[in-house]
Amino acid sequence: MNNIDKKVYIETYGCQMNVYDSELALSILKDDGYERTENIEDANLILVNTCSIRDNAEQRIWGRVNKFHAEKRKNKDVIIGILGCMAERLKDKLLAHRDISLVLGPDNYRDLPRLLEALDNNNKQMSTDLSKEETYSDIIPVRTDKNGVSAYISIMRGCNNYCTYCVVPYTRGVERSRDPQSIINEAKDLFNKGYKEVNLLGQNVNSYIWMDPKNTSNTVDFSQLLEMVALIDPKLRVRFSTSHPKDMKNSVLYTIAMYPNICNHIHLPVQSGSTRILKKMHRIYTREQYLERIAKIKEVLPTAGITTDIITGFCSETEEDHKETLSLMEEVKYDWSFMFQYSERPGTMAAGRFPDDVSPETKARRLNEIIELQTKLSMESNKKDVGKKFEVLVEGFSKKSDKELSGRTSENKVCVFPAGNYKPGDYVNVLVESCTSATLIGTPIK
Ligand code: SAH
Ligand code: SF4
Ligand code: F3S
Repeated sequence: MNNIDKKVYIETYGCQMNVYDSELALSILKDDGYERTENIEDANLILVNTCSIRDNAEQRIWGRVNKFHAEKRKNKDVIIGILGCMAERLKDKLLAHRDISLVLGPDNYRDLPRLLEALDNNNKQMSTDLSKEETYSDIIPVRTDKNGVSAYISIMRGCNNYCTYCVVPYTRGVERSRDPQSIINEAKDLFNKGYKEVNLLGQNVNSYIWMDPKNTSNTVDFSQLLEMVALIDPKLRVRFSTSHPKDMKNSVLYTIAMYPNICNHIHLPVQSGSTRILKKMHRIYTREQYLERIAKIKEVLPTAGITTDIITGFCSETEEDHKETLSLMEEVKYDWSFMFQYSERPGTMAAGRFPDDVSPETKARRLNEIIELQTKLSMESNKKDVGKKFEVLVEGFSKKSDKELSGRTSENKVCVFPAGNYKPGDYVNVLVESCTSATLIGTPIK
């Protein structure tokens, strides 16, 4: 293929990790002569980076893949490839689809050029072996964010926790941490290019641990890594996700307290408020232990934004268990939550051992109750911010108007205000004057 013909279009589903991985894949393809296009009609390589976390995520992708048949009819030479977690999970099933010719798992993106070349001789290629080492540490991602203000940096891959409901350890393999120097270099490079915020990513960042291969007593843990990134420049904001409650150490909280540019926000997925359910989920903490971590966060970082993930309707969940989730939410007073109905994933421990026995109607009703409560808690939390001043990092124009800018406070709340002469990438002090349950609304002050 001529370089002139090499145009790749990529669609990304799933979590922040996948956004970063698409940027890695684009970088590998760029070195192979590919140019990115945002117009599917111009592409001769269409990639879909996929997610398997819940059944509806997969259904959505199947629907999308079937739509690509139209592109294939217009241009029979267009190559359709599937990347990511669903590629890892469903391998041959995807490859058997009439329009799909390329399947690559999360650890196999370096194989892209080789497989694309091999397609000249055989119209189906696949690479899905999981790795114990791959961290792509030497690859500089091609950024796909629109604002040039905030970027992701993957600091580790995989997960060893095996929560019984979760597919991630099977789709992303074992946990491995990336060389800290390559993380620092990437963050510095972003700052030099004008970025003002980095978001350090991992399934369980608190268990980040890097050992110097030449001297294994020389280690870097997550709080040390956070500090190293924070020291790059006080004008570079540092965020991270996700923290697992069992590994949320005090040292991380003290490091956050010490550096104003490490954001005052902790995402601490609880999943359920019932100790019995937590045990069944293999979360390795009780309700009380979780609440103890929250108490410590509130002691060390009294104004921190606290957010969570909640699964409702897990196997055998009773009305009592559900009420415990609601009461825990009230107790913590989360600023925001991501709330899901349990979706059984084939191959997981829960799918093998526990019947998915909460009816769809009950799951939906419980989810609604959780969402309703969270909306109330978010509103209360935002109302408390009215009359206060926050430093907002501007990300872009607000969804409603190009006369308003939108950004985030250190606590990770979205804040909108009249644009004036400010622009994306500016730090603006904003006095909050009103709010909705999702947004703070204010005006810039000196
Ligand atoms: N590693 C992160 C999150 C990974 S997935 C962590 O442990 O916090 C993001 C969220 O999806 C999880 O926190 C969980 O709330 C949800 N999730 C994972 N598997 C699920 C399933 N089978 N059904 C419904 N929600 C699920
Ligand atoms: Fe899944 Fe649990 Fe790992 Fe998070 S910590 S990715 S929920 S197995
Ligand atoms: Fe989905 Fe894989 Fe992320 S399953 S949530 S894309 S780790």
